[in-house]
Amino acid sequence: MTATSYDAVSYPGYAYEQTHPDRIATQATLFGMSPASPAACRVLEIGAGDGGNLIPMALGLPGSEFVGIDLAAEPVGRGTAVIDELALSNVTLRVADVLELPADLGQFHYVIAHGVYSWIPPRPRDALVAACGRLLAPHGVAYISYNAYPGSYLRDMASDILSFHLKGVGDPGERLARARHLMALVVAANARTPYAGVLREHFERVLQHPDPLLYHDDLAEVNTPVYLHEFVAHAARHGLQFLAEARLHDSQLHELPADVASELGRLPDDAVVREQYIDFVVNRMFRQTLLCRDDVALDRTLDARRLAGLSFAAAMRIERTVGEEPTFVGRGGVSFQPGRRRLSAAIEVIAAAWPNAVT
Ligand SMILES: C[S@@+](CC[C@H](N)C(=O)[O-])C[C@H]1O[C@@H](n2cnc3c(N)ncnc32)[C@H](O)[C@@H]1O
Repeated sequence: MTATSYDAVSYPGYAYEQTHPDRIATQATLFGMSPASPAACRVLEIGAGDGGNLIPMALGLPGSEFVGIDLAAEPVGRGTAVIDELALSNVTLRVADVLELPADLGQFHYVIAHGVYSWIPPRPRDALVAACGRLLAPHGVAYISYNAYPGSYLRDMASDILSFHLKGVGDPGERLARARHLMALVVAANARTPYAGVLREHFERVLQHPDPLLYHDDLAEVNTPVYLHEFVAHAARHGLQFLAEARLHDSQLHELPADVASELGRLPDDAVVREQYIDFVVNRMFRQTLLCRDDVALDRTLDARRLAGLSFAAAMRIERTVGEEPTFVGRGGVSFQPGRRRLSAAIEVIAAAWPNAVT
């Protein structure tokens, strides 16, 4: 294998909770599937890097098997050293190209590709979706994240400007320094048109990114956003259908003003069309979509009976004012009062149990 940009500049591995089999199985159960138990499943991560996402899962789910593949040998080597040090026998990282996946992989209940689809050229991008279609077990679920339109037109604008500025500059350190300089210049110009304002705010945010993220995400030579409907059409060519967005609340209409939600609620009963219009009104830039095989019969009506057998967990702080219903404050500062005493009491029990779950 030839060295890749991920061998030259390390990409920091993280654990992404929305890719955890427990979370994905919950979504699948809510929509009428019978997913494999997270405690006894097989998980494949494509573009797994140094295993920052898979290794914690393997630690927490000793009865499941985790396989990560990545084109870059350097992060795979680093991750393998961690696996050896922890003496984990249920997780392996392998150097492999998604274009030529090893024939002995077998089937998987969950396939994850976080931060890969938009950042690889068309052939491997297609091979990634094809691998999900080929390797998923009958009630298996694939998670693929990608940059989405219409919001990513802003990324395209930024990327065009930076590509022009960095033409012919190969050295990673120099690319980073020059990009930071130009972005700071645009911010300092403080031009007073609406479009300049949007770009300025974008560059202000991007300037906060640490070097490895800036290098691989924002200065990447390949960065291909797609509309949700294009992504779903791509998945359909490989025998896959849209299941849900990995964060359920990203698909909820009740966070929109009531009249907007009511109008979107009158759209045809087609999950993809509804999701697409939500992207238009929130100008979404990024998606984390769950797919399943197209022969699975889904039922997206949220039915309370499907909650039976699930566990409940919530990272929430409880704020109390004498004589008032408690306020629950989640991560990121989102707060709410359920408005019903029994519901409030149930959420108090769940919040108090965190980080454990209530069954
Ligand atoms: C932006 S990084 C994301 C890494 C990790 N999934 C994360 O989110 O932290 C993209 C990863 O895809 C890997 N990759 C790129 N092309 C690939 C290919 N053809 N086959 C397998 N992995 C590939 C890169 O080496 C890199 O580790």
